[in-house]
Parts: sequence; C-alpha cells; structure tokens
Amino acid sequence: MNAVSQPVRVAILISGGGSNMAALIDRATVPGAAFEVVLVLSNDPEAGGLAVAKAKGVTAVAVDHRPFGKDRAAHEAALQTELEAKDVQVVALAGYMRVLTPWLVGRWEGRMLNIHPSLLPKYPGLDTHARALAAGDAEAGCTIHLVTEGVDEGPILAQRAVPIVPGDTAATLAQRVLQAEHALYPQALSDFCQSLV
Ligand code: GRF
Repeated sequence: MNAVSQPVRVAILISGGGSNMAALIDRATVPGAAFEVVLVLSNDPEAGGLAVAKAKGVTAVAVDHRPFGKDRAAHEAALQTELEAKDVQVVALAGYMRVLTPWLVGRWEGRMLNIHPSLLPKYPGLDTHARALAAGDAEAGCTIHLVTEGVDEGPILAQRAVPIVPGDTAATLAQRVLQAEHALYPQALSDFCQSLV
C-alpha cells in the first residue's frame, strides 16, 4: 500500500465473544493501517462481540439466522445486503459458526478469510484442541486461510504454532492458541489487504 491508498474496507463476521474481532479492530486503529473495520455482523443477536465492537466505535449488526429457518440462502442474502450497504471489500470470519453456502463463498471468492484453531490441514472442523491432545502432538496452533466451498480447506495464508506442554487440557491449549490467534490474524489480514492495493 502506498501513502495515498485508502485502507481496505473490512467486515468481520462473528457468532460469539469476538476476541479475534477485537484484535482486528485494534490493529485497524494503528496509524497507516492497511484496513479499516467498517462493519461487524453476527448471526446471533446475543453474541458478546456485538457490544465489544460498538464500544470500539464500530457499526455492529445482528442478522439472526433463526427467523430464516432452513433457508440459508435467504439469511445469506440478508448478510450480503448489509455488506454491500457498507461497500465492504474484504470479509474476515472470526468465530463465525455457520457453514456458508457456495453462493456467498462464490460472491467473496479470494476476498474472504477465516481463522481456524489448528495447524491445517490437520484437524479441520470442531474440537481441534482435544484432537491434537488425543493424537499426542507436540505442537498445536492456528491458521489463516482463504474461504472456499470445502470447510477449512482453502489456500493457507499464514500459520503460527504453539507448544503443547505436559498437563495441557483442551481448555489450557485453547487459551494458548487463542493468544497466538490474536497476533496472527491482524498481521495476516494486514498483509492480505496490502497485497490488494
Ligand atoms: C477462535 O478460536 C477461532 O479460531 C475459532 O473460533 C474462536 C473464536 O473466538 N474459529 P473469538 O470469538 O474470536 O474469541
């Protein structure tokens, strides 16, 4: 990004507490940041991250999936309407707990990132920390990847490893990985946005 470039307009999709979201918003406030967070969207009106985003001065909107029932396409169309209203250029999934349909994924091909709490391609899906412990792995970690139709399968942009130590539980390991996530995602999103301009 050169000195006259505008920061890339990013939306963050969440379903929960939004600690990664908060780390991304904080990075966007650094002078000269490659991106700005123009919108936080949640499928859950109770998501704690909504209040965190608002407290940080970011527009935060819930598009509850439940009234849409099984009509995923209609829910995603409502999300897309919000994204377009804010002229979003890049979407960052951060603990967004719904699998997206090929329609929304296709709409954002090459411009949608996700964070996953494992060293992909190991342990796509859920319960990543318990699976790493059960396998006797020496290390765990997190991955930033582009979103494609296959869950947790897209091209990898960045990874960070953390050690697994004696006595670790899924909870203690999750906490250690989460700290790594908070460093990795802002840097990876920043690098990605810089590569766009
Ligand atoms: C993180 O572990 C992320 O990797 C996973 O969901 C969790 C979200 O945590 N996809 P938070 O809402 O960012 O605190």
